[in-house]
Amino acid sequence: MKIGILIASHRKKGNSEILGKFILNNAENNLFIKLIYLRDFEIKQCNGCMACVFKKKKCTIEDDLYKLMDEILNNDALILIAPTYVLTIPGKLKTLMDKFLSIYELIKNKPPKPAISIGVASPIDYYQFQLPFMNLFLLSMGFRVIDSFLVFGAGPGEVLLDENLKRVKESVNKILNYKEKPFVSCISKFCPVDYSTFFEYIEGNKYRCPICLTPAILKDDGFYFDEKDLNNHRWTRENLEKHFDEWILKTLSRFKKLLPQIYNKKKELNL
Ligand SMILES: Cc1cc2nc3c(=O)[nH]c(=O)nc-3n(C[C@H](O)[C@H](O)[C@H](O)COP(=O)(O)O)c2cc1C
Repeated sequence: MKIGILIASHRKKGNSEILGKFILNNAENNLFIKLIYLRDFEIKQCNGCMACVFKKKKCTIEDDLYKLMDEILNNDALILIAPTYVLTIPGKLKTLMDKFLSIYELIKNKPPKPAISIGVASPIDYYQFQLPFMNLFLLSMGFRVIDSFLVFGAGPGEVLLDENLKRVKESVNKILNYKEKPFVSCISKFCPVDYSTFFEYIEGNKYRCPICLTPAILKDDGFYFDEKDLNNHRWTRENLEKHFDEWILKTLSRFKKLLPQIYNKKKELNL
């Protein structure tokens, strides 16, 4: 089995790198593990040209996008390890996620592979967006998130003292024992698709997960998630295809129809 470990910290010998090496050193012999350092790849910001969608071209920006995606996708599973920066993921991971439209072609028609996310945070209460955004990244790259947790540590190496370190080994075992199966109905304090603990209020006892749009019904001991909704979340291959075909691709003809109106408005506003 091939597992890629994507290390999203630019800090050399930092906590994310140490956790990656910890997994590598403790791996069973029959595992092939590759550490992928995000810092080794140049990823430039998407400029919204849309050529990847409307002209079905590869991204024309000259950077390491496809080299990196090859490293990420050419595995049976992925472990993402990222530091928390200002409550959430470091900017470069978001820059990579912004290339989602170009990446879609690479994952389309392929079944989701398992992934886990390990967030590194300081041992204080400054991390709430970290796991949901790490998992948003994984979902947008076509993975199924099968575990997600934080390990706490501020200075380099501090994570080795955190008791959550033991979860790392357990989590790798989840990958080894993973068998693809549908979600089942459950009551949970977090969204089973992306581990988000924040919910958008709809009405009454109805909420929904903002990351994957799965409805969540508030109960005394958590939220009720129905399996028909869990298996129909925003990031399923079918719903992604629908999103591309029924919205993104149609935005071109819609925009062309709106052009005269936009032209007049620009003239009126002297823009
Ligand atoms: C720019 C910056 C912002 C940070 N913001 C947070 C934060 O909001 N919450 C937090 O828990 N830790 C924050 N930290 C601390 C790092 O998450 C922590 O030191 C972590 O261990 C770094 O992982 P690394 O060694 O793999 O880079 C921040 C660190 C930096 C450099």
